[in-house]
Amino acid sequence: MTKRLFLGIALNKQQTQQLCELQANFDSTVRLVSATNLHMTLVFLGQVDAETELQLEQQISLMFKPKFTLSLDTLDHWARPKVLCLTGQCDDPVLLTLAKNCAALLSQHQLHDEKHPFTPHITLARKAKHLPENMPTMTIKPLLLAPTAIHLFHSQSTTEGVKYQILRSWDLE
Ligand code: 2AM
Repeated sequence: MTKRLFLGIALNKQQTQQLCELQANFDSTVRLVSATNLHMTLVFLGQVDAETELQLEQQISLMFKPKFTLSLDTLDHWARPKVLCLTGQCDDPVLLTLAKNCAALLSQHQLHDEKHPFTPHITLARKAKHLPENMPTMTIKPLLLAPTAIHLFHSQSTTEGVKYQILRSWDLE
């Protein structure tokens, strides 16, 4: 049995509320990511068996996990995955170190082969063909992130859609 896992950042109530207000501007043809599922992925691990999961947890516990800050201020449309996401400049080198350490877990366990460089973003909607037409980009209030922990998420398919369950958390240093 394997689990679909990823490492990421959770959002607090106020950050979630801010993103829900942004989503309210999207047209009804897109599929909104539900408030409980909003998160920022650090690394997608893919399908992981129980033994590898245990090894990953041990490695993540020992890994250098520095605290970072990030401002996401740009609403973007990514054509290939057909998503609307909130993204921004990754100008804190500490975040790049953390993302690099997370990505290193992939090659150590021959997991999911990540083809794209780390681009911090929060997916807000799927099945999106273009940016919302009625929304000038300058109206976007930056979302400020200063997380104190990272989480191991289990992505589960349920009858009500996908759900992300936190399996384990680690404080950032
Ligand atoms: P994203 O939406 O933040 O881009 C859980 O499935 C999360 O892992 C998704 O929210 C997605 O992050 C990321 N993910 C899913 N499938 C992926 C893939 N094939 N490659 C990279 N990231 C993926």
